[in-house]
Amino acid sequence: MTDTNHGDMFSEEHLKPFLPDQAFKARALIHDQALYRKAEADRLSYWAEMAENIEWINKWDQVLDDSNPPYYKWFVNGKLNVAANCLDRQVDKGLGNKKALIFEGENGDCTTLTYSDLLKEVSKFSSVLAKLGVNKGDAVTIWMPMVPEAIITMLACTRIGAMHSVVFGGFSPEALKDRILDSKSKVLVTADGAFRRGKTIPMKSAADEVLQNCPSIERVVIVERTGIPFEKVPNRDFTWTELISGAESDFKAVIMDAEDPLFILYSSGTTGKPKGILHTTGGYLVGVNATFRYVFDHKENDIYWCTADIGWITGHSYIVYGPLSNGSTVFIYEGVPDYPAKDRFWELIEKYKITVFYTAPTAIRSFMRWGNQFPDGCNLGSLRLLGSVGEPINPEAWLWYHEHIGKGHCPIVDTWWQTETGMIMITPLPGVTPLKPGSATNTFPGIEADVVDDQGRPTKTGQRGFLVIKSPWPAMLRTLYEDHERYEYTYWKQYEGLYFTGDGAWKDADGYFWIMGRVDDVLNVSGHRIGTMEVESALVDHHSVAEAAVIGKVHEIKGHAITAFVTLKEGFEGSEQLAQELKKHVGKMIGAIARPEEIFFTYELPKTRSGKIMRRLLRDIAENRELGDVTTLMDPQVVASIKDGFKE
Ligand code: WT7
Repeated sequence: MTDTNHGDMFSEEHLKPFLPDQAFKARALIHDQALYRKAEADRLSYWAEMAENIEWINKWDQVLDDSNPPYYKWFVNGKLNVAANCLDRQVDKGLGNKKALIFEGENGDCTTLTYSDLLKEVSKFSSVLAKLGVNKGDAVTIWMPMVPEAIITMLACTRIGAMHSVVFGGFSPEALKDRILDSKSKVLVTADGAFRRGKTIPMKSAADEVLQNCPSIERVVIVERTGIPFEKVPNRDFTWTELISGAESDFKAVIMDAEDPLFILYSSGTTGKPKGILHTTGGYLVGVNATFRYVFDHKENDIYWCTADIGWITGHSYIVYGPLSNGSTVFIYEGVPDYPAKDRFWELIEKYKITVFYTAPTAIRSFMRWGNQFPDGCNLGSLRLLGSVGEPINPEAWLWYHEHIGKGHCPIVDTWWQTETGMIMITPLPGVTPLKPGSATNTFPGIEADVVDDQGRPTKTGQRGFLVIKSPWPAMLRTLYEDHERYEYTYWKQYEGLYFTGDGAWKDADGYFWIMGRVDDVLNVSGHRIGTMEVESALVDHHSVAEAAVIGKVHEIKGHAITAFVTLKEGFEGSEQLAQELKKHVGKMIGAIARPEEIFFTYELPKTRSGKIMRRLLRDIAENRELGDVTTLMDPQVVASIKDGFKE
């Protein structure tokens, strides 16, 4: 792990760091090192100061309780409500008529909600949820397209103190079922369907296939977005419209303890079962509030667009809670970037005069491939800051983004973080940090990270190791939902007192972090995390499959392409048709994002003597590299047979 030297990858000659534009710097919230110095001098009083930007009903007694690691408590005994911070407080500050949410649908319909409007809608839906029997501490599952009701539902949950569990709309009903069962949600909020590239995709009727196996669900709420017909189970299913009409709009925000659960968000890990990452109230809000303000250099008249879906943590932290708790104007779009044409996003930036644009490297690489004519044909002059998240951004994509979208004058914030961290952890601050394309640069003030070797010792400059976080941070996950053991095992057992991120990284001579991607059995496909074991379980679930091994093959646009090696049961023969059927089956079990790109049938899988599948070897085969050390292999013959099969 530590023998590769990357120190000279970005020598001075190669590329000079990009310094912040003088004009940008002059207006930036953070334009010098003071915040870094403050955080270094006294981390906890710095976080206490950050917490002053939140409205507390009762102030906390203690910033951090670290007496029982790895169970940390932040802002002990503080009382607050997150939705009240995002809505009531903004209205009280005089922002009632300011736009909170601007929505454009795939077919061009547009809805704008001011802070007052949003407060009213959220209050109404809070009354609805309460009437449906949702209490503080209950779980509500949200499985919806990117429509304002999804955000209203999230905020209504936090208003009444219920935990939301948002399941990405692209996940399959089977995946939805697993997440409902794990969270024991009482209510499902969904839609009749979603628009996708001019077509409609049913959701409610698809959910019905699994709902009879979800005993915890007492009520289902359906937003009628597309007009796709669906059936209503009496006393269980209600439309959004019928519930909301006549609902009281003065629902008072419930008082929450800083450590009360705020939401669960499922994310892939190294086993077949997704992890229910649990975030709590006070620390999370302080973390996303501060990072949103400083990383995106919040300005009163910004129109901010983060292209993530609310089904991912980016949507939670940087579409909903970070921006709204800062009183920002958030733009959301329902559709994809290349429908009806490949200039859709640029057209929207021009139309809504977007000032801050936050997207993923996989999207940037697609834009690049589609050609400059699409962004060049639109007026992108409103943009002042760009962001990137989800996976390492290759310097080529960074430079293209800088030149063709940012027109050379917009800083790019490459933000490293995770579902678990809740908030941005490693990032430039756009008014101060010299940028190096491909590096997420430095820790956010108040965050302490390092790169260590397998013994937990800091690596030398240029040497690759494991990225760790050295001290607790406010928005950190508190546990895995009802699975403390897995929480401890996954994050805290590798190194004494250090949080293990699962990413490989190295630091350059300036102390900049260069993130290399996952070192565990987790893939990053188009910026989405998929566990190899999850895909393997889905494949093995098919009646023809005996065994499966899944790897990520390096892919130009997606980062990783899911590649599966499959051995079949007696009596089954590998064929193109069966490969198609297996891909479809994975789509059914998890969702389209997890469908393998390629499937290879083989007589045996390469395993170590202890029976562990040698994924590294499969990766080498798939990417046509020379094979490394195979001496620990159980049956070296297997490699030859797979390689032959692969070439066919
Ligand atoms: C994993 C977390 C954080 C929201 C989106 C993904 C990778 C994320 C970067 C970045 C290099 C990155 C890491 C991390 N990652 N951002 N700027 N540079 N890698 O959230 O699904 O929890 O995935 O995404 O590998 O561990 P997630």
